[in-house]
Amino acid sequence: MTATAGRDAGSAARHESDAVGPAPLAMVVGPTRLAPSVLRRLADQPPPITDRRFLAEFREALELLRPVLGTTAAETFLVPGSGTAGMESLAASLLDPARPVLVLSTGMWGERWHELCTGLGLPSRVLRAAPGHGLDLDEVAACLRDRPYQAVLLTHVDSSSGVRADVATVTALAHRHGALSLVDGIAAAGAEEVRQDDWDVDAYLTSPPKALSGPGGLFLVALRAAAVDVLTDRGWTPRGYSLDLGRWLPVTRTLAAGDFAYFQTPPGALVSALAESLRLIVAEGPERIRRHETLAVRLRTGLAAADLRLFTADAADRAHGVTVLRTPAGVDAARLVAAVERHGVVLQAGTYPTAARRTVRIGHLGNHTAADVDRTLAALTAALAETARAEA
Ligand SMILES: Cc1ncc(COP(=O)(O)O)c(C=O)c1O
Repeated sequence: MTATAGRDAGSAARHESDAVGPAPLAMVVGPTRLAPSVLRRLADQPPPITDRRFLAEFREALELLRPVLGTTAAETFLVPGSGTAGMESLAASLLDPARPVLVLSTGMWGERWHELCTGLGLPSRVLRAAPGHGLDLDEVAACLRDRPYQAVLLTHVDSSSGVRADVATVTALAHRHGALSLVDGIAAAGAEEVRQDDWDVDAYLTSPPKALSGPGGLFLVALRAAAVDVLTDRGWTPRGYSLDLGRWLPVTRTLAAGDFAYFQTPPGALVSALAESLRLIVAEGPERIRRHETLAVRLRTGLAAADLRLFTADAADRAHGVTVLRTPAGVDAARLVAAVERHGVVLQAGTYPTAARRTVRIGHLGNHTAADVDRTLAALTAALAETARAEA
């Protein structure tokens, strides 16, 4: 689906914007560009929630999520809500409010894990990586030796720092110390290799509007047996109601068998559009990850040629779908983003907690092409030349 879907998605985006002039190219972390066949699903009449074809498509989406996350063993869930709702759902459903958790932070999304745990009344300790760096695994091991934690909460790709975490090693460390591993893969799945079974990740969370090139409004969860056991054997009362995966479990099992079950009304068009985006991803196969890697290299080679430095210090830690660059000395991120937009490309100012004004994020997730990357580099180069002239 690679090149063709990318081209089709591009022409669909242009067509839609005809009424208001040429659409800028959005190189953002999300929402990302949808393929035409996914867009068409969003325009369909929502089916009755008992409709046999709808139930078959729901079941297919639950099944197709497994190969995308590298699992045959996990139970999958599609739940209405944002990515953040998904993070809250994991924490509220799987974590005993009386026992501490260890949050590993590589940026804004680790901080969000920490804030939402605090909001739920869960005692949490945060271990922060140095800005722009990956986690120090010796420090992680030392923390886990220090005292018992029920779970380690991790971000696979933190889109504020561009850092990809070593999920396999962290999960192995967590398990050695009797802790579950809960992974936010919202900016990772679809662009990075995910091997939930091989890595033994207990709970993997993602959401469609990033590298899965799907619609916003659902979060997707895959739970391996140890996490499912928590849901069925909790000796504590979970916080909240609608996000409780314990209540969703019998429903998802029935839907996975192709039968009707109700807990909350599923958004029909979103489920159908998601099923289509997962079909495209599965059809593309492992080439999808290589394609993201190749685009990342193309972009970073161009940035280096333009003398731009990356925020993510070590090449081995750099994610495939997000690039965070440092603005040149004296250039404010918001000003640079505005200047690039005048050249037809939308980027995002930084969100890394202590470097927001000095970093810019470029999303190259999902259906982007080499031509999009080249257009981005050209817009950035032109914007930087303008900024330099303005300062001269
Ligand atoms: C890594 C990561 N986690 C969580 C989220 C939150 O997702 P949402 O904005 O849908 O709540 C994002 C959004 O960009 C993200 O990049």
